[in-house]
Amino acid sequence: MTMIKASKTSDITPGTLHKVSVDGKEILLINIDGSFFAMDNTCTHAGGSLSEGKLDGSTVICDWHGAQFDCKTGKLAKFPAKINDLMSYKVVVESDDVFVEV
Ligand code: FES
Repeated sequence: MTMIKASKTSDITPGTLHKVSVDGKEILLINIDGSFFAMDNTCTHAGGSLSEGKLDGSTVICDWHGAQFDCKTGKLAKFPAKINDLMSYKVVVESDDVFVEV
């Protein structure tokens, strides 16, 4: 596992979904009241881009068919069918830099 700089904290507005590319992976960065979280950006249902979805508290809702994932763990929170959890990643913030462990 390697820590890679993914963004500046100032680029991730609280309450928004921010897509970045880290080591060839599409990662979703989320800032909830100054705490940063990272998970895969691609929905495990049918490949929707979660950065185009909505954030409700700490739940990310896919814009395609409504699957809900906990952004702190990547785990599926709600969907009528069984689909896989998302991979979540460790985040470290140093001054204004956000690093993701991939
Ligand atoms: S692609 Fe995300 S819910 Fe279907």
